[in-house]
Amino acid sequence: MGLDYFRINGGNRLRGRIRVGGAKNAALPIMAASILCEGEVILHDIPRVADVRSLCELLGKLGVESDWRSDGALRLVVRDEMNCKAEYDMVRKMRASICVLGPLLAKRHAAQISMPGGCAIGDRPIDLHLRAVQKLGAEVDLVSGDIMVKARRLRGGEMFLGGPFGSTVLGTGTAMMAACLADGLTVIEMAACEPEVVDLANFLNACGASISGQGTPRIVIEGVRRLGGCEYRIIPDRIEAGTYMVAAAITNGELLIENCRVDHLLAFIDRLSAIGVQVQKTGEGAEVTSARRLEPVDVTTQPFPGFATDLQAQLMSLLCLADGNSVITEKIFPDRFLHVAELSRMGARIRKEGPTCIVSGVKRLVGAPVMASDLRASAALVLAGLAARGTTVVNRIYHLDRGYVSMEEKLRAVGADIERRSDGDV
Ligand code: EPZ
Repeated sequence: MGLDYFRINGGNRLRGRIRVGGAKNAALPIMAASILCEGEVILHDIPRVADVRSLCELLGKLGVESDWRSDGALRLVVRDEMNCKAEYDMVRKMRASICVLGPLLAKRHAAQISMPGGCAIGDRPIDLHLRAVQKLGAEVDLVSGDIMVKARRLRGGEMFLGGPFGSTVLGTGTAMMAACLADGLTVIEMAACEPEVVDLANFLNACGASISGQGTPRIVIEGVRRLGGCEYRIIPDRIEAGTYMVAAAITNGELLIENCRVDHLLAFIDRLSAIGVQVQKTGEGAEVTSARRLEPVDVTTQPFPGFATDLQAQLMSLLCLADGNSVITEKIFPDRFLHVAELSRMGARIRKEGPTCIVSGVKRLVGAPVMASDLRASAALVLAGLAARGTTVVNRIYHLDRGYVSMEEKLRAVGADIERRSDGDV
């Protein structure tokens, strides 16, 4: 099979309903947490994206059996606890493999994970993950590119998990999962407050853990002897929802985004309304309509409840068509601007100054062949293609498939002229 690409003819106004699926970034840590469980885990609304398939493969190598039930739920059961090593080729493919570190250490008393290198959105250090497990009494060694952590017994402790860019989402997950089975009380200060962290804590509590304070910067975990299994439904994907809100706005259309938690998107909706995009909460989700004229705005990415870095690229696509200059500052991943050069190929006027981009709105974008790079940059290019005059080809769509389930089908169903092709197609 050749490399897939999207072919988009822009200009159609999108109208109709798009249903959002379960959150990829809730699914991955919760799936990894099944390593801690002595019973069967049944997870509902797990999105069938490439990253979920990759993690199922990694969990398989770690003795966790996974299968999809006929009702679409994912079933996970620990069959064998011998292996504690996450191989380089897995970690290289998916940075979120780091999620298995905490559970392996807590349940199997050891973990060996290859050092995740950088990735398209910049450096991806794990020093805060290691700080967390060291505070719980683990020994940490670096052996030829692998991180080795081990501890016969973990002891609860106090830790401050703030880094140079603020809190850490997966680092907070590592700390919570390791502390669940530690002896005594653990307090995490400057914990991440993202909804996906809250979802992980709620899942762990459903398995018998004793966690409180999730959603605030101070999380308290009372260690317990063991965790059983449970049946759990994960939260909807706020980043998928935000991506489709931009699709409505950038095509000057009207969409009902179903299964969308507006309370998970307050900072994003605040910026959209300043631009002139109305987001109305309804019983089933959110109704999105936009003014024909888009106002320029300033936006800075911050940890939750601030503006999500995962929606920065998508908003930039919209601001390329605003009536004036917008300023976008990326405080979480300062290099997360790989979409800028590609948007410029479509006629956008963007000047990058370090962690800040000045976007000078243009009357219209022009379709062009562009290259996807990371998951959210790819989404931004698709959004720009929906609005651009003419044909846009977004290459290397495998980046997009890591985090979005059949985006082209959802967009075509509301009027987009988009198709997935493979470069092997004649
Ligand atoms: C999660 O990554 C998400 N991934 C990312 O989404 C998201 O962009 C990010 O949180 C921020 O919201 C998953 O949940 C699977 P961080 P994570 O630790 O946890 C620095 C997507 O598109 N840092 O919160 O790895 C780090 O370099 C993906 O779905 C340290 O310095 O991000 C960054 O600058 C992309 N030391 C900042 O903290 C550490 O030990 C926030 O990173 C860890 C992180």
